[in-house]
Amino acid sequence: MLVACASIHGNTAKAAAKLAEILEAKGAKKVVLTDLARCDIAEAVEDAFRYDKMVTLCATYDGGLFPCMEEFLHHLKSKAYQKRKVALVENGSWAPMAAKLMRGIFEGMKEIEVCEKTASIRSAMKADTVKELEELADELLAM
Ligand SMILES: Cc1cc2nc3c(=O)[nH]c(=O)nc-3n(C[C@H](O)[C@H](O)[C@H](O)COP(=O)(O)O)c2cc1C
Repeated sequence: MLVACASIHGNTAKAAAKLAEILEAKGAKKVVLTDLARCDIAEAVEDAFRYDKMVTLCATYDGGLFPCMEEFLHHLKSKAYQKRKVALVENGSWAPMAAKLMRGIFEGMKEIEVCEKTASIRSAMKADTVKELEELADELLAM
């Protein structure tokens, strides 16, 4: 599966790396990690289509999504990304919004099942973040 993050300062990217480790430890067959702010977006889009499951992790940015995530999701939508399972992780220091916004975008795509649980990080990972990531991984792997 693909774990795609959009991180300004690196905290969301750290959570993405931790989640990839958790997914592998729980038996996910192949986990590919991509940092949308630092990779070739076309390759990330290709990877999204290669796997049946994906996790998107995004920092909240001026009440919206960090733009590289917005661009990534826009590409997926315009290429009819569908029939897949998705899990969401957000980051935000005072009013995290990214999970709600990403859910709204995925709702506009066909047959995308989004995990009910989301993990919400306040600035940087803490002990309870790992628990949230573990629970999210369990839900996604069971889908
Ligand atoms: C330009 C800018 C805008 C931001 N806007 C918001 C915001 O609207 N709401 C919020 O909760 N946090 C906001 N933040 C805080 C980031 O979401 C927060 O620092 C987060 O931990 C960033 O994760 P990162 O380390 O992966 O970049 C903003 C940060 C920056 C630099």
